[in-house]
This record gives sequence, structure tokens and C-alpha cells, in this order.
Amino acid sequence: MIERHGDLFINRVYTPDEIRYCRNRKQTTEHFTGRWAAKEAVLKALGTGWRRGISWRDIEILNEPGGRPVVNIHGGARLVVEQLGITRMQVSISHCRTHATAFAVATGSDEE
Ligand SMILES: CC(C)(COP(=O)(O)OP(=O)(O)OC[C@H]1O[C@@H](n2cnc3c(N)ncnc32)[C@H](O)[C@@H]1OP(=O)(O)O)[C@@H](O)C(=O)NCCC(=O)NCCS
Repeated sequence: MIERHGDLFINRVYTPDEIRYCRNRKQTTEHFTGRWAAKEAVLKALGTGWRRGISWRDIEILNEPGGRPVVNIHGGARLVVEQLGITRMQVSISHCRTHATAFAVATGSDEE
């Protein structure tokens, strides 16, 4: 998608801070791909799938200084999080030259 659509694709899927993070790293495409996997994993944890009112950039994956990924949820996805009572979203990402994978765990008041 990046080779075919370039910035059109990147700007539709990733926030400016995500783009900065990935482009500042040597294996830029791997980091973009891991983020794609993480965004899908978060969406699965929400249980909604892609639907009207949620955009790729609503789910933003940034990193703490030590590298740990953190999820920021905006826009339409934020409304879903609030409706479901989710208070914490954790994500884990791995990637190599050929594959990327991620899983996300949503927890909230229903767990207690
Ligand atoms: C965390 C660690 C196990 C990741 O393993 P890896 O073989 O390098 O790479 P993987 O493909 O499995 O994982 C990469 C992803 O791990 C995640 N990650 C990095 N540091 C992490 C941490 N401290 N905790 C949880 N996840 C972390 C990131 O999401 C990263 O992908 P991204 O940079 O695109 O967001 C490894 O980097 C490590 O042990 N680091 C030690 C701490 C360190 O070196 N810190 C350097 C910065 S101070």
C-alpha cells in the first residue's frame, strides 16, 4: 500500500506523531506495518470492527521513551470506548522483515 499509494495512504491511516516515529527509524515500513496490526488489534478488542464513524487515525499508537507502545483513542472510537466502559487498552507489537503481529487487551469496569 505504501509503495502503491505513498503519502495518500500514510496520511489516511497514521497520525502525524505516528508518521514521525516510523520515519525516524531505519526499518520505517516495519514500524508502519506493526502499527497497522496494532490498530486492527485494538479494533478487535473494541468488538466493533470497522464501521461508520471510526477512522484509522482514531486509534493512535505512540511509544514511551523506553519503547513500550501506548494507545491513544480519539474521535468515533473514543465514543465506543466510553460506551463500553473501557478504561485501559494495552497493546503488544512485534515485527520483522516479512511479518508483523499485534494483540490488544481492553479492560474496564465490567472486569471488576
Ligand atoms: C522490547 C523488546 C523485547 C522488543 O523486541 P525486538 O526483538 O526488538 O522487536 P519486536 O519486533 O519483537 O518488537 C518491537 C516492538 O516492541 C515494542 N516495544 C519496544 N520496547 C518495549 C518495551 N519496553 N515494552 C513493551 N514493548 C516494547 C514496540 O512496540 C516495538 O515496535 P515499534 O517500535 O514499531 O512500536 C526489545 O527491544 C528489548 O528487550 N528492549 C530492551 C529495552 C531497550 O533496549 N530499550 C531501548 C530504548 S531505551
